[in-house]
Amino acid sequence: MILTATSLQALQSIATQLLSHVGTEKIFLFHGDMGSGKTTLIKSLCEVLGVKESVTSPTFAIVNEYEGSSAKIFHFDFYRLKNQTEALDMGAEEYFYSGNYCFIEWPEKIPDMLPAHYISISLKVLNDDSREISVEKI
Ligand SMILES: Nc1ncnc2c1ncn2[C@@H]1O[C@H](COP(=O)(O)OP(=O)(O)OP(=O)(O)O)[C@@H](O)[C@H]1O
Ligand SMILES: [Mg+2]
Repeated sequence: MILTATSLQALQSIATQLLSHVGTEKIFLFHGDMGSGKTTLIKSLCEVLGVKESVTSPTFAIVNEYEGSSAKIFHFDFYRLKNQTEALDMGAEEYFYSGNYCFIEWPEKIPDMLPAHYISISLKVLNDDSREISVEKI
């Protein structure tokens, strides 16, 4: 499925469509250049899932935990990871197999730790406010 967000305002409805499209799958990998909108889309997905607290990039903690209205969400940003052992040490696999939502930025940093099945989301910048969002079940 390919969705096009032509503004920040459009993301709420895109996030709703995306979540209904993927069904019960809980692991989401976000691909795209720096500034392509991974964190911004995750913010909208969390809002749709009923998260009231602020959603920001977990750059220093690697993982943030949010409470949705009926689900827990773990938000990872592996950009600063030095090696995969660091992810293993912080218990990444336990999070992935916990049955909770896992939204993962920079999954390219942990190629050997990815689960067999997940939703792959790729963001492409079309212009300042527009993003092409490709959604694929793996
Ligand atoms: N339609 C849109 N969707 C997403 N972001 C948008 C859109 N239009 C404009 N933006 C802007 O693009 C920027 C995206 O930044 P964001 O931090 O989400 O990127 P990122 O992919 O998470 O980058 P990083 O790899 O550094 O974590 C924000 O400033 C956001 O306001
Ligand atoms: Mg980000």
